[in-house]
Amino acid sequence: MKRRNFLIGAAAVGAGAIAYNVSGLGRSISVKEMSKRVPLSMPPLIDTRATGTFTLTAQSGKTSFLPGRYAHTLGFNQSYLGPVVRVSNGQLRPIVQNTLSWPISAHWHGLVVPGENDGGPHQHISPGSFWMPNMEIKQEPCTAFFHTHIHGRTARDVYAGLAGVMHVTDGRDDERGLPQSFGIDDLTLVLQDRRFSNDGELAYANSMMDVMHGMTGDRILINGQLEPLAVVPKSVVRLRLVNASNARIYSLFFDDGRPINLIATDGGYLPKTATIDRLRLSPGERVEVLVDFSSGKDITLLSDGDPNQGMGGMMGRARGYLDRITGLRTFPVLPFTVDDQLERPVTKIPEQLGGSAPNLLESEVSNTRRFALNMGMGGGMMGSGMMSGNSFAINNMPFNMNTINETVKLGSTEKWVINNGMLAHPFHIHGVQFQVLKENGRMPLPESLGWKDTIVVDGETELLMRFTETASEESPFMYHCHILEHEDAGMMGQFTVG
Ligand code: C2O
Ligand code: CU
Ligand code: CU
Repeated sequence: MKRRNFLIGAAAVGAGAIAYNVSGLGRSISVKEMSKRVPLSMPPLIDTRATGTFTLTAQSGKTSFLPGRYAHTLGFNQSYLGPVVRVSNGQLRPIVQNTLSWPISAHWHGLVVPGENDGGPHQHISPGSFWMPNMEIKQEPCTAFFHTHIHGRTARDVYAGLAGVMHVTDGRDDERGLPQSFGIDDLTLVLQDRRFSNDGELAYANSMMDVMHGMTGDRILINGQLEPLAVVPKSVVRLRLVNASNARIYSLFFDDGRPINLIATDGGYLPKTATIDRLRLSPGERVEVLVDFSSGKDITLLSDGDPNQGMGGMMGRARGYLDRITGLRTFPVLPFTVDDQLERPVTKIPEQLGGSAPNLLESEVSNTRRFALNMGMGGGMMGSGMMSGNSFAINNMPFNMNTINETVKLGSTEKWVINNGMLAHPFHIHGVQFQVLKENGRMPLPESLGWKDTIVVDGETELLMRFTETASEESPFMYHCHILEHEDAGMMGQFTVG
């Protein structure tokens, strides 16, 4: 993984000999620590395949993350987070109810549907009312994501829990030889980091620093559970990873160096399984991977620290003291223990997956657009722009609900070239799946080779995409940084397709 040079100094200071063991593979979880953990559970599963409809009710509630203590939280159909909604191609008619006292929306992040069904900031659902889009799903199987998307309050409402997962399926995973028993050998893992106050509340600080770097936490939640333990069969297990963190970019690997078999990116299956040992996953990104547990050995999924949090300079380092998993330190994400008694239908990692390889050609491009992600830092870290707190923009234009930034022709193929400043920004586009052409002039990382809707921009990233869905001025598509604090602060734009 590429890392900026100026971070190396911070790594040497911050990580040192404590965070890394001799093999350099980071901290594993001891058997004793493991036995204290609660088994991971899955979110409730709603299967819409028979009915084509489902209901999500945005509600407030209380959730106990720390034993004996409660947090005020938000969720869809429950107190924190939402269900896993399984959908197939065809008509889909969600009903989204808002029982909260402020507007929400339900954005289907990863579904390629027209602007009026997309659930972005313009499809707000007023308190006490509901939204019933009627849309046709016509895309490859994938793991998608849904969350509220009200401009200016996406970050804090998602932090409080207004997000969930969607599986688009075609019922052919048997033929692909993929694990598919929900919660047994097909695990959905929603990754989040959170900060807690002493009384067990979710702490949302929203200080200038939290806006700058994005809000990170020092504790890991998986599916809303604080530091659980995954119990898996002695076989091949599929993990659908959803990064629903506000800001944290994970760099995932196993403590024993075991391969990660990547089978799907945001937009669906790869043509072939890609074997990697490290996986970068930024907010908004999803992947599906296969992990072989047939040796029966217990392992831990680890992550390196978020390069954005370890950024050099006084503030970055001062913050590292307060937050035990910021900076470049390695930390455990989820330990796995093997249970011999569980069924083990899949014992082989399939090679061929039959997914569609991104196949757009530069020669088809009719328009090239350039986007610079600005933090208004001008001359440097301490520039006045950054201090003013309202300097987040794209091409120097902070997001404005009433301004359409770009106009795209329906059916056209475009090239978008995205550049960042000092921080890495996960760039996301609504209404389309794109192909990553180049990252800093080079071939994309293996995890960027499939169809995607969110990509870490750390330097210059070139994307190709064909626009197949319409979006009017009343319901345009968004493009934005998926560090939610950056998005809310103005690092977002909108476009029509017609
Ligand atoms: Cu996941 Cu525009 O968002
Ligand atoms: Cu989206
Ligand atoms: Cu950003």
